[in-house]
Amino acid sequence: PEADKGYSYEDCKATADWLMAQTDVRPTVGIVCGSGLGGLADMLKDQVAFNYKDIPNFPQSTVHGHAGRLVFGTLKGRPCVCMQGRFHLYEGYPIQKITLPIRIFKLLGVETVMLTNAAGGLNQDFKVGDIMIIKDHLNMPGFAGNNPLSGPNDERFGVRFPCMSDAYDRELQQMAVDVGQELGYGDLLKKGVYCVLSGPSFETIAECHMLHKLGADAVGMSTVHEVIIARHCGMRVFALSLITNQAVMDYDSERKANHEEVLQTGKQRAEQVQRLVSAMVTKIERH
Ligand code: 6GU
Repeated sequence: PEADKGYSYEDCKATADWLMAQTDVRPTVGIVCGSGLGGLADMLKDQVAFNYKDIPNFPQSTVHGHAGRLVFGTLKGRPCVCMQGRFHLYEGYPIQKITLPIRIFKLLGVETVMLTNAAGGLNQDFKVGDIMIIKDHLNMPGFAGNNPLSGPNDERFGVRFPCMSDAYDRELQQMAVDVGQELGYGDLLKKGVYCVLSGPSFETIAECHMLHKLGADAVGMSTVHEVIIARHCGMRVFALSLITNQAVMDYDSERKANHEEVLQTGKQRAEQVQRLVSAMVTKIERH
């Protein structure tokens, strides 16, 4: 397919069929791992893994900290598929390319999508290392016309004008709170609004103030496009942000946002994020 035209239903179907011919795993849960959080994929049993470069139609992952593998397997007996590394707007891909794997999830039989990301904290009550359950989003690239559903709509995926006020499944949010309590996470677990920007430059101080005033609790460069595509085709969504750094809000501060800090906090908290997500997967009912 020509990159600027996006992918047709048939393109997505061809990729899904190719994958299903290589593995017997029929996942009902699809997981997308954020920066430094790819370890979740390594928890899958009886793995069948594909490098993105070997999958028909798949883009490549170009970011340090993102592996670039699609891993099938089971998590405590549940068949899952896991993206170890995702695609971002700042890599220069057309937005339809970034979200292609989510439509492939759908055609593989996935019912629930769970997404993780690394994000900067804007809410002053958040600490580095907190896990934020995403309850809503601000789609800034969308305001500028960069919505993954721009262009012709294929009704086989979903309706032209999908609702987004229920994007983040409330039952799954509550499940995360309950599981967090069971795991003894205490006030590590927060809830909030995630704002996506296209990146790759981090925000200025003025931009951080603006986003905070607009109601954002955390800021990052991913997830929202995938959520829109997942909701369009009727999958349930759960998403969380690991607060890997505090967005700089103060002109006197010496701190600077940087990718190394993002990866380092990811490393420190990856296990806790993984335990939360994997415990949730075992509790998710089939729909
Ligand atoms: Cl501070 N900003 C953005 N846009 N993305 C991030 C981040 C900050 N920290 C981790 N990811």
